[in-house]
Amino acid sequence: MKLLVTGGAGFIGSNFVHYWLSHHPEDVVINFDKLTYAGNLENLKDVESNPNYQFIQGDITDPVAVSSAMEGVDIVVHFAAETHVDRSILGPGVFLQTNIIGTQVLLDEALKAKVKRFHHISTDEVFGSLELGTAEKFNEQTPYNPHSPYSASKAGSDHLVRAYGDTYGLPYTITNCSNNYGEYQFPEKLFGLAITNVIEGKTVPVYGDGLNVRDWLYVQDHCAAVEAVLLRGREGETYTVGGLKDDVSNLEVVKMILQLMGKNENQIEYVKDRPGHDRRYAVDWTKINQELNWSPSVTLEEGLRKTIEWYQAHPDWWKPLKEKAQGFFAQNYKKA
Ligand code: NAD
Ligand code: TYD
Repeated sequence: MKLLVTGGAGFIGSNFVHYWLSHHPEDVVINFDKLTYAGNLENLKDVESNPNYQFIQGDITDPVAVSSAMEGVDIVVHFAAETHVDRSILGPGVFLQTNIIGTQVLLDEALKAKVKRFHHISTDEVFGSLELGTAEKFNEQTPYNPHSPYSASKAGSDHLVRAYGDTYGLPYTITNCSNNYGEYQFPEKLFGLAITNVIEGKTVPVYGDGLNVRDWLYVQDHCAAVEAVLLRGREGETYTVGGLKDDVSNLEVVKMILQLMGKNENQIEYVKDRPGHDRRYAVDWTKINQELNWSPSVTLEEGLRKTIEWYQAHPDWWKPLKEKAQGFFAQNYKKA
């Protein structure tokens, strides 16, 4: 089987390329990635020489490049996107271009190439925000109510995928997963930033009162969920994917990181809140569990330990990325 993975040089995409090549060594994986600030071929050094792996540098908004990459492809796994909420607040334009127009270009070319499956990777953020302290969770029936330019652009892309299924018969599946963490995450999202700041002896910025809640999914578990959907998922279906059963606030997560790294809570710095900051996300992953027999393999603490060890062992990977992101950090972080 031949897979086209878009955004395979990013955080989840590169983990997925590794995952697929090791679990399905007979398959061919084409990684199509523009290499934006978030794309990094260092993530794929150890598969570079694998004859079943190929990298193509290209933009998903470019139909000519996409059409040529799509030749002979059986399955498209679409990760490529602009992904950081805070960057979407500072500059929404590129989010609409890549996440909406880019997805539409891919869908057109996937139809022409008659792919057997178009799998779209989306987020739980399209559903909006839940009340703190309630038992409510997002599931496959939850109406869309996005609040950030990022989540609005992802919502647009989800609607387009379903529209291409309904209108043109494109065989598709969608996963809406929660916040991922793990190896190769660009050190601007909460976990990567917090862990590397602690290693550097810096404070950890917490937005607002720190009581916002996210569901946390270890990236390897996410890769296994996508595999389950590709191999056993039903065409035209959506699966919500999460890593936890109980709520954990940002503050609790940051305290856990500090404790696992032998530091105390003095290193927490409350900073100005994000505008439109969603209060609570929680994901009901019953459908993928019951239908496809998938469940997370690690607890948050186990996943965090692995992630901390990885960042501790790979300063040469994250230090230059943080250096390059200084301009963004200066623009984004303001005193509370
Ligand atoms: P990332 O920002 O780490 O990587 C994105 C990749 O896409 C990069 O390699 C980048 O170069 C590439 N890319 C961006 N624009 C492109 C374009 N126009 N053409 C081709 N390639 C382009 O992202 P990630 O965190 O790995 O997220 C991957 C996918 O998973 C996204 O669709 C995101 O919305 C979704 N998702 C992420 C999370 C999370 O917690 N990270 C949670 C839920 C869903
Ligand atoms: P983030 O990793 O940006 O993911 P998302 O906004 O897509 O959920 O943020 C996760 C949570 O952590 C979110 O509630 C915002 C908060 N946060 C901080 O408190 N401090 C930070 O420096 C960052 C990046 C995020």
